[in-house]
Amino acid sequence: MDNSEIKNIQWFPGHMAKTRRLIKANISLVDAVVELLDARTPLSSGNPEMESLTGGKPRIVLLNKCDVADEKATQAWINYYNKKGVTAMAVDCKSGKGLKNFLPTVKNKVLKELMEKRKAHGMSGATIRLMIVGIPNVGKSSFINRMAGAKRTKVEDRPGVTRTKQWVKLENGVELLDMPGVLWPKFEDQSVALRLAFTGAINDDILDTETLAMKLLYFLAENYPDSLKERYKVEAQPEDTGLVLLEKVGRKRGMMISGGEIDTERAAITVLDEFRSGKLGKITLEMPERE
Ligand code: G4P
Repeated sequence: MDNSEIKNIQWFPGHMAKTRRLIKANISLVDAVVELLDARTPLSSGNPEMESLTGGKPRIVLLNKCDVADEKATQAWINYYNKKGVTAMAVDCKSGKGLKNFLPTVKNKVLKELMEKRKAHGMSGATIRLMIVGIPNVGKSSFINRMAGAKRTKVEDRPGVTRTKQWVKLENGVELLDMPGVLWPKFEDQSVALRLAFTGAINDDILDTETLAMKLLYFLAENYPDSLKERYKVEAQPEDTGLVLLEKVGRKRGMMISGGEIDTERAAITVLDEFRSGKLGKITLEMPERE
């Protein structure tokens, strides 16, 4: 993929440094780290530093937005994390699907040792504290709201805890530490930025909308041709460029401007919106074996 057109992205290194410091400063207060990833882009939406920043704390990966990701791919990613010794689960924090297994998995698997130790010391009821991390838009607030439900309450400030973070108390002796700040993935590889722009995790202005949609269509034609057939009645041919595909979509949708030309900008906006909202089907942008 030629990504030379991608504009430089401002990753706010100051914010990143502050977030790193916050994670490090608070990691000793929690029993485990919950890392939310986008199931459509598990690698691109993750930060490779997380493991070192969280200092060997037990970790659970939540592949969120599984409702719009390819189910087979999500299972392949779960296997990928399991092989690395990390527990991973598919969840949909919008509907709440998969979340009822979350706390049992934390207690019986991720924190098994700790729970056994506590039991042996007669402390089974002690609070479990979890740090929640993830890039913006990945669904952290949706997750916390789902878990806390209507009972969501802020926990009072504790000594040693900076004011900028927030503890959320659940009913069952569990507290979530909602980490503020931003920790973007590494962007040496520009296809990471591209995938995050496809899902809308970062602003589309890293590329013009039409170029972004053309690149997405090209990917879909190669990997999910049926999605184009079903949604737009577009038969992708091997020689089709992104522009040809975008024009085909525009033509099928009757998006014309005066003079019989196709309104490729409108078509691009439609493709991106429909992809992001799952109308093109369940699609994953990166597979473990390809990465
Ligand atoms: P953040 O705190 O990590 O920044 O993310 P937040 O929960 O605000 O979620 C960002 C967007 O992702 C929201 O959409 C939210 O509804 C959506 N989302 C969260 N979890 C899921 C999921 O499992 N599946 C799907 N399909 N979407 C999810 P939005 O358009 O910004 O808001 P809204 O219109 O849905 O309220």
